[in-house]
Amino acid sequence: LATVEVDVAALEPGMSLTAKWRGKPIFIRNRTPEEIEAAKSVPMAELKDPVARNANKAADAPATDEDRSAGDGKENWLVMIGSCTHLGCVPLGQQGDFGGWFCPCHGSHYDTAGRIRKGPAPENLAVPVFQFVSDTKIRIG
Ligand code: FES
Repeated sequence: LATVEVDVAALEPGMSLTAKWRGKPIFIRNRTPEEIEAAKSVPMAELKDPVARNANKAADAPATDEDRSAGDGKENWLVMIGSCTHLGCVPLGQQGDFGGWFCPCHGSHYDTAGRIRKGPAPENLAVPVFQFVSDTKIRIG
């Protein structure tokens, strides 16, 4: 399917689900205020990959928390392709040194905005084209 619609009404803050789009896992997380704060407090100079990697933004958009998240009053929502940017394993959620995702294949640590912070992966987890089509429904693709 070129696009999928995912109902996220049941996701309270701190909950995630994994959808499937074009054969790939898509991580959708309703972040807690603490997770958002943790991501926002990281100085840009500390980021290994300073680019947002967000298909909804300009190709050179910076990897700020706002440009990684759904933004615009929906910054609690993070939508990402669940494929490690090293060699494509599926990272595990809420694990690793930065409280985001951890890829057990070769030890890449992503933060609560899905940005690579440690390990061999070169890029932040990619954000696919998506939009909210209602308050509780996300269309991916
Ligand atoms: Fe994730 Fe290698 S595939 S660290």
